[in-house]
Amino acid sequence: MLTVAVLISGTGSNLRALLDAARHPDFPARIVVVGADRDAEGLAHAEEFGIPTFTAPFRDFADREAWGEELGRQLEVHNPDLIVLSGLMRLLPASLVARYSPRIVNTHPAYLPEFPGAHGVRDALAAGVPQTGASVIVVDDGIDSGPILAQERIPVLQDDTEHTLHERIKPVERRLLIDVVRRIATGELALTH
Ligand code: GAR
Repeated sequence: MLTVAVLISGTGSNLRALLDAARHPDFPARIVVVGADRDAEGLAHAEEFGIPTFTAPFRDFADREAWGEELGRQLEVHNPDLIVLSGLMRLLPASLVARYSPRIVNTHPAYLPEFPGAHGVRDALAAGVPQTGASVIVVDDGIDSGPILAQERIPVLQDDTEHTLHERIKPVERRLLIDVVRRIATGELALTH
């Protein structure tokens, strides 16, 4: 059974989908801890499932390294096989990435390498592209630059707002993320740097 830690910043709707999937007895992974860089709304999903949570508020630490050390300490307690960034809106320090690499995956609301960064949906809309997408990648030292594990195209509609487009992307992200975690757990998908 693959053990998974999930890190979030927001509402955790993708986390929720992963928790629901992992509840199924046939799912080959289980979530052992959920952490956040702020008092994230999504932590409530983990609490509902009786899964341990922690918060490491970024602003409480001197710098990214110090914050990363705290994340590392919290993760160590649960010794996860895999870390899933599910809407974590901060870059992990290189030292933490190096420690777990390539066992950190990230879900992103664009068709990488198009529109990396914190505003993948907004940037795609601003560029006026006819389609964007969703991606699940391995985390490396860069900004959404690691190997792509799964991705899918999603059309941009003429009257889309950032909200409507993001709401259409998220169900695709969830499906891709759940499938990637399942395939990592079964050994079907090998993680590489
Ligand atoms: C997701 O769309 C995720 O891909 C995105 O934040 C959202 C979190 O939604 N992450 C990034 O943009 C990271 N660059 P959720 O909190 O409802 O799961």
